[in-house]
Amino acid sequence: MAEILQKVVDESKQGEAFAPFAEDPNQYSKKFYIESYGCQMNFSDSEIVASILQEEGFGATRNYEDASLVLINTCSIREKAEQTVRNRLQAFRKIKEQRPGMLIGVLGCMAERLKAKFLEEEKLVDIVVGPDAYRSLPGLITEAEGGQKTVNVLLSREETYADIAPVRLDSNGVTAFVSIMRGCNNMCSFCVVPFTRGRERSRDAASIVNECRDLFERGFREVTLLGQNVDSYHYSPLATTAANEAVTFARLLEMVAQVSPLLRVRFSTSHPKDITDDVLHTMAAYHNICRYIHLPVQSGNTRVLQAMNRTYTREWYLSKVQRIREIMPDCGLSTDVISGFCTETEEEHADTLSLMELCRFDMAYMFSYSERPGTLAARRFTDDVPENVKKRRLEEIIRLQNGHSLESYKNDIGKTFEVLIEGDSRRSDADWCGRNSQNKMVVFPKGTQDLKKGDYVQVKINSATSATLIGEMI
Ligand code: SAH
Ligand code: SF4
Ligand code: F3S
Repeated sequence: MAEILQKVVDESKQGEAFAPFAEDPNQYSKKFYIESYGCQMNFSDSEIVASILQEEGFGATRNYEDASLVLINTCSIREKAEQTVRNRLQAFRKIKEQRPGMLIGVLGCMAERLKAKFLEEEKLVDIVVGPDAYRSLPGLITEAEGGQKTVNVLLSREETYADIAPVRLDSNGVTAFVSIMRGCNNMCSFCVVPFTRGRERSRDAASIVNECRDLFERGFREVTLLGQNVDSYHYSPLATTAANEAVTFARLLEMVAQVSPLLRVRFSTSHPKDITDDVLHTMAAYHNICRYIHLPVQSGNTRVLQAMNRTYTREWYLSKVQRIREIMPDCGLSTDVISGFCTETEEEHADTLSLMELCRFDMAYMFSYSERPGTLAARRFTDDVPENVKKRRLEEIIRLQNGHSLESYKNDIGKTFEVLIEGDSRRSDADWCGRNSQNKMVVFPKGTQDLKKGDYVQVKINSATSATLIGEMI
């Protein structure tokens, strides 16, 4: 049982903090430290914040004890995510007691959700900034240096930070996130994101392609295009001439894929209601668009999906999966699942398990439902599935998925994959690690060949666990 619970922690997408580095920390007069929680979008936003701060003479440091400005980029997706942030703030409190001049700023979704309340609840916080207000950080810092507590949580209908070149934090120099849109117009009833991130807006396609080209020229070999619902990407240039027509997600994928055949393209997240054949055919047409789709299902039961306001049925989801496999038989597939949503019965939970049996996901992020204040579900339904039942259902989901993951990875034994080298394996610097197109991590001995990060190699798989393929170069 302990092992299963550990898996929940590992796969919860939470608590992945990072501290950045400066190319030359002494180049800057002041130092900031930033830690990020939550989704890839938040990590990507931290790189925008780093860029804005660098303009102001702040260099990034990995050590918060050296920083005059400590920032925490927060997540509100589940109660536990917020608790993690509060615990972290307690750790910062100790440093602040010794160095009262140090400023503490809260960024991201929790800042947006709690707004000025944050300053009342957490007295040590000086600055509260929401996801659309990062351009105002320099002004807020100046005010805070003057002793004032400051807040800017205005959401915007236009802000995409299109013109800001992100400072790559804690980068491996090979893979990078590129934000293509912000906000979300879906109203999944369990979800806080539409409230913390505001209305959906798409970033200028040309600025996305330029950022990807620039990354490629600097040696990066993989970009992940980020949005809460990438399939609804839609950018209309102001001048609508024939040559300037609106850019859809399929078109954007193609534009990025054409930067170079050596640049891999990934994306996240797709919504089952919006993913089109156009996107699937574009993926199939380009070798460098990775054969991997993260397609969150949330539940395998149509009534629950309806209560979640996901706007698709079990059958619709299954037919999308079938379509993906028709067009790309070798496509990797992963999902998100929520156990114990309001009013979910045992039979409905069994439908989730049976859908998982039918889809055989390679990987899944699995959660038990956590009611978020202000969401549609919190207003409309009672959070009526007892905690122990949610937990037991989640354990059943995880146990099933662990079996499917192991089966999927074992199935690759004997196959040969193209792998992009990302760096030394975590266990040993005698081994390389990197991913195959299907997003599976592959580990293999370096051997005598003169290879480096960012190189592509062919690797034959000899063994597998439920999360790693182990092989040798051929
Ligand atoms: N935009 C993405 C998901 C963003 S949130 C999408 O639509 O797929 C990532 C995942 O967190 C969701 O897919 C969902 O499985 C989970 N999640 C969101 N709100 C939750 C809540 N209140 N309780 C438990 N899990 C939640
Ligand atoms: Fe949340 Fe749904 Fe939007 Fe995803 S699509 S961010 S789950 S509201
Ligand atoms: Fe969390 Fe906000 Fe992302 S709530 S999951 S950091 S969009």
